[in-house]
Order: sequence, then C-alpha cells, then structure tokens
Amino acid sequence: MRLSRALSWLCVLTLGVVVFSTPAAAQSVNRAAIDELNEQLLYVALPLTLFVELMLVYAIYRFHNNDDPKPTIDDPALEVTWTAATGAILVFVGVSGFFVLANPYISPAAAGATDSGEMANDMEVDVLTYQWGYEFSYPNSNVTTSETLYLPNNTDVTFRLRSSDVIHSFYIPDFGVKQDIFPGQETVARTQPTETGTYRLYCAELCGSGHARMQADVVVLNQSEYDSWLDEQRGSGANNTTTPDGVNNTTTPDGANATAASVARPA
Ligand code: CUA
Repeated sequence: MRLSRALSWLCVLTLGVVVFSTPAAAQSVNRAAIDELNEQLLYVALPLTLFVELMLVYAIYRFHNNDDPKPTIDDPALEVTWTAATGAILVFVGVSGFFVLANPYISPAAAGATDSGEMANDMEVDVLTYQWGYEFSYPNSNVTTSETLYLPNNTDVTFRLRSSDVIHSFYIPDFGVKQDIFPGQETVARTQPTETGTYRLYCAELCGSGHARMQADVVVLNQSEYDSWLDEQRGSGANNTTTPDGVNNTTTPDGANATAASVARPA
C-alpha cells in the first residue's frame, strides 16, 4: 500500500518536472540549440532517475525487515551491462553537447564560420567595452549607442568585441550568448534573434567596482523598424552619445557619481 502511494507521488513529481521544464519559445538561434539540448538530456535523465528511485524504494520496502542479510553474489553479466549502459549514456551526453558547442552561432571561431565565409553576410556590430559601459557601433553608419543595443530581428549578427582596459564578458542570457572580451585582442560572438522585444545584456566578468552596473538593454526590432531607427539616428546626428575614453569614463568609481553620469547621457 505504502509502496504504491510512494510510486504515485513519484509519478506526479516526474510529470511536474516535465511540464515545468518545457522551455518557452526561444529568443535566438543559440537559445533554441541550447534549449533543445537541455530537453534531449532531460528525456534521458528522467527515465534514469525514475528507475534509480524505483529501485531504491523497492529495496527499502522489500528488505527493511531483513534480520538475516546475505552478501550479494557476483553477477558479471549484470556488471558488464550496467557499465556498458552507463558508458553509452555518457557518450550520448558528450556527443550531443559537442554538436551544440560546435554550432557556428555558439562557437563561431571553433566551428570554422570565420574562415568558411559563413559570417561574411552577417551584420557586424562593433562592441567596445570599458570600465564600466559599452559603445555599440553599427555597420555602414556613424551611429553609436551606449545604453541600448539595437538589433534587427531574424538577422545574423556578428559582434566584434574589444576592451579598452580590462577583461569583460558579453552576456545576453536570453540569447544564449556569452563571450569573454580581452584587452588588445578581438573576440567574436554571433547570434540571430528570433523574437522582437527587450532583453538584458550583462557584463559577466568581475571588472572592478562598477561591474554590477555594467549592463545594457538589447532591443530587437523588425527589420523595417530597425531601418527607420537607424535612419533617424543618422539624420539627427545625435549619434555620438558617449566616447568610452571620454568624460563619463573618468568619473570616480563611486556608485552615485557614476550613476548620475550615465543618467545624464542622451538616450
Ligand atoms: Cu565589465 Cu564586469
């Protein structure tokens, strides 16, 4: 009786895990690949968890009143089976993880996307990072922004990442994008947003006292909205919002001052 109750609880729990772990629609190509891997691994892990828990519950129930326990007998066939099964599962996990890592959006350099010319048609955004902020430069224009990164939807984007001082890290969780940025060296990140909206960009590398506020918005617009936004920026000439080595940057690292400086910047 108790066993069947435990089993039904286990089933409810499993179902709950499946329902709540179903990911919402992905916001980028990278995110979709990562979510799919997560789901794949979950479908392998769930039956295994269920199996192990069932064996555990069974053993507890079946042997809890055993006053005369006997040592287990060798069973080479069983041992070979579970070793091979574990090996096969680990190979599956490794191989599926490798394919996501080798995705030309997730590791563009390692996947050879840089050399094969796959990225030649990408829209390129230059990202210059500094303590503590960003300067985004848009292609074929003199437009730069600092508080917000604007991207067109459904377009391949290559970020060319540079740092003018220390190591930073370019992290957009919703897009599944994360890449370290080193002074004196250009690194590359790549994505294709698949849903319009506003997302958060964080610096994910401790880079000084202003690290926690080194954040920006990422706004994904439809292509036409993006084009008119860019035209507007070009026309207004109000593009040079900040220079990374300018006055804003030389404010004291003290929180209040720096926040005031960033608020004072034109949007
Ligand atoms: Cu830049 Cu943390």
